[in-house]
Amino acid sequence: MRTQVGILGAGPAGLLLAHLLRLKGIESVIIERKTREEIEGTIKAGVLEQWLVDLLNETGVGQRLMQEGVFHHGIELRFNERSHRVNCHELTGGKNITVYAQHEVIIDLVAAKMRADGNIVFNAGDVTLNGLETDSPAIRYRNDQTGGFDEVRCEVIAGCDGFHGPSRSYIPNREEYLKVYKYGWLGILCDAPPSSPELVYANHERGFSLLSTRGPEVQRLYIQVDPQDDIDNWSDDRIWTELHARLETRDGFQLNEGPIFQKSIFQMRSFVCATMQYGRLFIAGDAAHTVPPTGAKGLNLAARDIVKLARGITEYYQKGKKELLDRYSALCLRDVWRSEHFSYFMTTMLHRHQEDTPLEREFQLAQLELIASTRAAAASLAENYVGLPLDW
Ligand code: FAD
Ligand code: DHB
Repeated sequence: MRTQVGILGAGPAGLLLAHLLRLKGIESVIIERKTREEIEGTIKAGVLEQWLVDLLNETGVGQRLMQEGVFHHGIELRFNERSHRVNCHELTGGKNITVYAQHEVIIDLVAAKMRADGNIVFNAGDVTLNGLETDSPAIRYRNDQTGGFDEVRCEVIAGCDGFHGPSRSYIPNREEYLKVYKYGWLGILCDAPPSSPELVYANHERGFSLLSTRGPEVQRLYIQVDPQDDIDNWSDDRIWTELHARLETRDGFQLNEGPIFQKSIFQMRSFVCATMQYGRLFIAGDAAHTVPPTGAKGLNLAARDIVKLARGITEYYQKGKKELLDRYSALCLRDVWRSEHFSYFMTTMLHRHQEDTPLEREFQLAQLELIASTRAAAASLAENYVGLPLDW
């Protein structure tokens, strides 16, 4: 098979790239390890920044998002059993966040690619990349139908294969940064109407918790746990007891309970591979960087890389110039470090660990008090949370 751009991974990054390139008349083939059912059913992120919602709408894939997404003007920070609203809408001159599940974005983008040309290979095994230093690199994979190996020969390869994918390992002498947190999140989905009109981020002696939503009948909730803990140690009763304790307020907040139909534990890390390109390979999204989820930045940051990569590839095909592609890593890193820092800031301000000293606890409260009490601190959080403009 021959194409212009070979894309490894049908996550939000790979699918959005294929979509933006197609609008510019550039062909692509996506090679994905999992089945369509798996990628369309995996529960992950939920919060989209304003510019991304605008982009999905402007490029013709925002119809379901506008019908089913939940638009929020602000968030709540909860500490010392009191709630403080950050009015993002007012503090940012009218921007909002939208709660719309990542797998719904994936469903919309897979449908767009299938309508356009159907060029997604699912269930591809044993992927290798070849010829990255040449003008015609290739993605080789085992075809699940035939059991034999196939190859997509292309001109550019986009490594959009997530944190555990192989593409990053093809970049020699990478500059990398890593911090692994001592805490993880246990996330649940349950059948219950939202307990709060907006997302609640709670700092509590027993650990962090987050109340989010997936529409009028489903809640998404998270609690900080030991990342090594086994999910079998967490009965539904234990989860609800912890959530009630951590979300409690002095004025009697009521948490709606309902049957839990999904639960899992995951590890959190801050990771940056600052060398995001090698020859004809460009890596994007979680393949190049991951953030702890506390600021809801991962998917949004992946999309920021993709906008830059799509601009670079478009300039290459339409004008025969490689200036933007040559500067791809440098162009991405400003946004990467901004989102990395914001996610670290939110995470360390809101989580508790037994090794924390009383001094660190007071630092957290001092920071939360500042945000709750001053417009400047609240505005800084709000601007980062709704997302800085694309070319800030
Ligand atoms: P991925 O989504 O990881 O996609 C990579 C794709 O590549 C996958 O489909 C994978 O199967 C495929 N792949 C991997 N290896 C291979 C291979 N060898 N061959 C072929 N294909 C391969 N972000 C937000 O912005 N907002 C949030 O609210 C938010 N909340 C989150 C909550 C949770 C619980 C989690 C876990 C994450 C959250 N994130 C959030 C982060 C967000 O989900 C990720 O940053 C996002 O999925 C990154 O997209 P991606 O396309 O780069 O990578
Ligand atoms: C959700 C996830 C996040 O990481 C976050 O900060 C807010 C909401 C969610 O899945 O709804």
